[in-house]
Amino acid sequence: MKLRPTRDAKRAAAETPRNVSRETWLPPAEEAWQEPTTADTPIGAEAERAVRILHNAKGQQLRRPPRQRVFTIANQKGGVGKTTTAVNVAAALALQGLKTLVIDLDPQGNASTALGIEHRPGTPSSYEVLIGEITLESALQQSPYSERLYCVPATIDLAGAEIELVSMVAREGRLRNALATLKEYDFDYVFIDCPPSLGLLTINALVAAPEVLIPIQCEYYALEGVGQLLRNIDMVKAHLNPLLDVTTVVLTMYDGRTKLADQVAEDVRSHFGDKVLRTVIPRSVKVSEAPGYGMTILEYDPGSRGAMSYLDASREIAERAHGPARAQ
Ligand SMILES: Nc1ncnc2c1ncn2[C@@H]1O[C@H](COP(=O)(O)OP(=O)(O)OP(=O)(O)O)[C@@H](O)[C@H]1O
Ligand SMILES: [Mg+2]
Repeated sequence: MKLRPTRDAKRAAAETPRNVSRETWLPPAEEAWQEPTTADTPIGAEAERAVRILHNAKGQQLRRPPRQRVFTIANQKGGVGKTTTAVNVAAALALQGLKTLVIDLDPQGNASTALGIEHRPGTPSSYEVLIGEITLESALQQSPYSERLYCVPATIDLAGAEIELVSMVAREGRLRNALATLKEYDFDYVFIDCPPSLGLLTINALVAAPEVLIPIQCEYYALEGVGQLLRNIDMVKAHLNPLLDVTTVVLTMYDGRTKLADQVAEDVRSHFGDKVLRTVIPRSVKVSEAPGYGMTILEYDPGSRGAMSYLDASREIAERAHGPARAQ
């Protein structure tokens, strides 16, 4: 499959006014979740919204999936929202009652940072797990914000793993083998956050998970490289993991003020059909600020549109778990 921006997308790009910022700026009215409140001040209204959203989310516990669902979050294009999607969907599922694990497989360690998880050099991490020094269990850390949310952090040591793994036995299946030892934790969802490359780390993630989630940024060139990713997924499926499937595509950083964003969304929907979540993640300053505080958007600003959209996305993902629910 050749995935290129269509002529319409190119035209939309050309028509996009020059003064439309590509920065994470939104007018205040777009940033806030617009629902009537009884509060007199903007801060009061925001607090009221946050309380309502958190209350609804906690009250609306999701059904456990029939069996553990493991997702690799991959797109070799950098900065498309892989990590943001991994941590916020995971936090949203945990908030709604499901036991969730994020495995940070990117030496940048952004998922660990965003979850407020220690990942200084020397911290037991995905690196030691991959090279077989420790078990996955001994690298697990619980999120400071939720008893149902866990993370296996990544430290900078992981940067050397691509090379070290080359000469190792069963180098592509090391994460899968490590994950198989975690049965007693009974996680409902596992998300593996990949680096922006198609090297051995991403291959380990693709071998360990039956489901692939591809975040696609609503920008020009969004589909660049996705064809290559799909070919790699096919190769891993053919040789290493017959269960592998792209089940979910998430449109990220959608900016409703540009025609281009709609055009990209349309192109992606025409390529991937109903694998694309109905929920689109808006471009939002709050979403980009949250990791700086070691928080997901659900802790940082639960009343924001970003938090609402990740809650909606998590519910859609959970709805797609087919078969009878597990015991609660
Ligand atoms: N919905 C959003 N609105 C605004 N900014 C966002 C949004 N989602 C992500 N960002 C910001 O965009 C940048 C890239 O996001 P993120 O780190 O999630 O992408 P990534 O695909 O994991 O990047 P990498 O390939 O480097 O691992 C980050 O600074 C993040 O805070
Ligand atoms: Mg990332």
